Amino acid sequence: MNLLVIGGGGREHAVVKALKKNGTVEKIWCLPGNGGIAQDAECVPIKATDLEGIAAFAKEHRPDFAVVTPDDPLCMGLVDRLEALGVPCFGPRKDAAVLEGSKVFSKQLMEKYGIPTAQARVFSDPQEALSYLKTCDYPTVIKADGLALGKGALIVGSFSEAEEAVENMMVKKIFGESGARVLVEEFLSGPEVSVLSFTDGETVVPMVSSMDHKRAKDGDEGLNTGGMGTVAPNPYYTPEIADVCMNTIFLPTVRAMKQEGRTFRGCLYFGLMLTPKGPKVIEYNCRFGDPETQVVLPLLESDLLTVMQACRDGSLRADMVRFSAGAACCVVVASEGYPQKYETGFEISLPETQPWEEIYVAGAKRSEGKLVTAGGRVLGAVATADGLKEAVGRAYALAERVRFQNAYMRKDIGQRALSALK
Ligand code: AMP
Ligand code: GLY
Repeated sequence: MNLLVIGGGGREHAVVKALKKNGTVEKIWCLPGNGGIAQDAECVPIKATDLEGIAAFAKEHRPDFAVVTPDDPLCMGLVDRLEALGVPCFGPRKDAAVLEGSKVFSKQLMEKYGIPTAQARVFSDPQEALSYLKTCDYPTVIKADGLALGKGALIVGSFSEAEEAVENMMVKKIFGESGARVLVEEFLSGPEVSVLSFTDGETVVPMVSSMDHKRAKDGDEGLNTGGMGTVAPNPYYTPEIADVCMNTIFLPTVRAMKQEGRTFRGCLYFGLMLTPKGPKVIEYNCRFGDPETQVVLPLLESDLLTVMQACRDGSLRADMVRFSAGAACCVVVASEGYPQKYETGFEISLPETQPWEEIYVAGAKRSEGKLVTAGGRVLGAVATADGLKEAVGRAYALAERVRFQNAYMRKDIGQRALSALK
């Protein structure tokens, strides 16, 4: 089998490494990949959003199967495009990827099918949004409808903050057309859980749960980032809660999408909040999470390619997907200054790894035969173990052995999960 993987982050590195475990895989092309993925796949510098370039590549090289992971190409219809060329894909078609691509669509779907979520109102006129915001309780949440690089949700503490958010999103359009419509949403509280799932459009099989750490600094301080670390499983997500989620959220969502004529196949990511009134959906993503994938896939005991093919073919069964009973932790090693200003171009020295360790490279490139930093989140240091405490200790022991100038990491990844276990 020759495989095509679209994307170029730590998540894609984890996907590539998991796919390689399948004995029938001869070759993997990763578009565009990165300097670290280049050790595991042939990276070709075609951007994930260059649909024309990817289609031309697929016509020439005829991959047997493609895995599309980033949100933009999924929402732009890359899967439809590749399937039309006869390349079977893991990932939703455009009409299903809208579950992430439009927060207005997903909110209306949840309301129509009674799927628990924060109450919200939709506005396309800034004046109407402001009149409503005058009457709101604070804090409240304002969300841009479309994709906004993970920065489209703002928790505002007062009307004046809300005014600024409306001005930025709807008038100055800092997220472009993504902010043409906004949601004003009830503020919920409780522990957050990420549950990625495999689905073929009928059957939905949740993967092991995980917990992201989105803020840049220890103690959940500092700016929002793409994610500074993760642990799996998430201790707040008990078997009882998992049952409730399956019956009130996962199955109803997959059935609703089918009912709407938008059958969702691929990885459906449920961003959940465990509120005092039960689990509610904070967001859907139409793809694997980053850096959730980096802790989930190392715990997958089944063959990833087989499961992905079953999602595509409509033959997924729960017994195909088996996870180890252990735990995993990912510590993101970033460039000092991320998510704002940071320097790049520093040589990276990677340590030898033990069987329980993995390095998934995100922001790095090859330059004169060396691996050098090329982004904010440079790599994820991942370790597995029988228990969470040991996994966290092992991930930090690995992260400390990674060397590059201006390296920065949070020191408290996993601490909240460990205190919840006590
Ligand atoms: P989103 O872009 O929808 O994933 O939101 C980003 C982050 O904002 C989430 O991970 C939550 O921490 C927070 N958030 C989103 N919606 C709400 C809400 N209704 N209540 C409280 N926090 C929220
Ligand atoms: N880690 C959050 C996401 O992938 O959206």
